[in-house]
Amino acid sequence: RRKKLIDEIYKINKLAAMYFYNKLFSEEGRQALAYIRKRGLTEATIKKFGIGYSPPQGNGLLNFLKEKGYTESFLVKAGLLSQKNNRYYDRFRNRVMFPIIDVKGNVIGFGGRSIDDSLPKYLNTPETEVFKKGKTLFAINFAKKTQQDKFIIVEGYMDAISLHQAGIDCAVASLGTALTGDQARLIKRYKGNVVIAYDADEAGISAALRGLDILDELNLNIKVLTIPYGKDPDEFIKKEGVEAFNQLIENADSLIEFKAKVYRKNLDLDNPQDRIIYVKKIAKDIAKLSDEVKREVYISSVAKVAQISENAVRTEVARFVNRKI
Ligand code: CTP
Ligand code: MN
Ligand code: MN
Ligand code: MN
Ligand code: MN
Repeated sequence: RRKKLIDEIYKINKLAAMYFYNKLFSEEGRQALAYIRKRGLTEATIKKFGIGYSPPQGNGLLNFLKEKGYTESFLVKAGLLSQKNNRYYDRFRNRVMFPIIDVKGNVIGFGGRSIDDSLPKYLNTPETEVFKKGKTLFAINFAKKTQQDKFIIVEGYMDAISLHQAGIDCAVASLGTALTGDQARLIKRYKGNVVIAYDADEAGISAALRGLDILDELNLNIKVLTIPYGKDPDEFIKKEGVEAFNQLIENADSLIEFKAKVYRKNLDLDNPQDRIIYVKKIAKDIAKLSDEVKREVYISSVAKVAQISENAVRTEVARFVNRKI
C-alpha cells in the first residue's frame, strides 16, 4: 500500500512539473521567464532542469489535477496543496519552480523561488512520503553520471544550475541545510572526492565546518573552496567566468588547511597565548587523520606557522591520537 502511494506521488509530481514547465512558456509566465533569463539561464538549461512557473491565483494546479481525477486530500499528501479551514489551494504561487529529482529519476519535490521579494525566498515541498529534507541532493540525477570521481557541493539551486550550465556537471546542492549524514552516505555511494563550495558568508563557513566532519567520518577525500568574500558560486561564475572558478577548485584547501584558516581568523599568531590555542586546536584535527604521512605533512606546516618545533606539535598530536585508542 505504501509502495502504491509512493508511486502515485511520483506520478503526480511529474504531472505537476509538466504543468509548471508549460506555464513558464505561457503568457502567465512571461515575468518569470524574464527573471530566469535575467539570471543568465539559457533555454537549454531551463529544459535540462525542467524549470517552471507556478501562477499566482492558487487554484491552477488544483484544477488541473482534479480534472485528472486526483482528490484534494491526496494532493495534500504529495505536498502540492495547502489546506486552510477546509479550503485547499496551491502551495506554490507566483514562484519559479525547480523540480528535485532523485537518483532514479523520480520527481520527489520542488523548490520554488519567489520573484517578487515575498518571503520566504525559497519555499520547498514539505516532508512527504517521498520527500525527506536532508536525504537528497539537488542535481544528483545528473552529477552521479559524470566520469570524474568527484562532486562539488554547493548550497543552492541556482549555484548548482549555474555550474552545470558552465560545464561543471558534477555539482550538487545540499539545499541550504548543513550537510547531513544521509547526504554524505549518498555521496559516498557514487564518488570518493568532494569539493565543498558554500557561500562565502558566516552561515556558509559554519555549514562547511560541520559538513567536513560528517564527510571525513566516511573517509571521503575533502577539499574546501573559498569564494572571494560575499559571493556564492552562481554570482562568482557569472562575474568572473568558469576559468576563474576552475582556478578556485584548483586552489581549494584540504580539510586541515581550511580549519587552520578558520582558527587563525580569530587568533593573533604574534601572541604566544594565541599560538598555544592554535596548536592545541589544530593538533586535535590532525590527530583525527588516519594517514600518518598526512599527519606528518601538517605537523610540519603547523610548526612553521606557529613558530614552534615540529616535535612540540607532534607530541600534542600524539596525545590526541593516543586518547582515541
Ligand atoms: N533555502 C531554503 N529556504 C530559504 C532560503 C534558502 O530552502 N528560505 C535553501 C535553498 O535551497 C537555497 C539555499 O538554501 O538555494 C541557499 O540559500 P541562499 O544562499 O540564501 O540563496 P541562493 O541559493 O543564493 O538564492 P538566490 O541566488 O536565488 O538568491
Ligand atoms: Mn547562503
Ligand atoms: Mn544568502
Ligand atoms: Mn545566490
Ligand atoms: Mn547563496
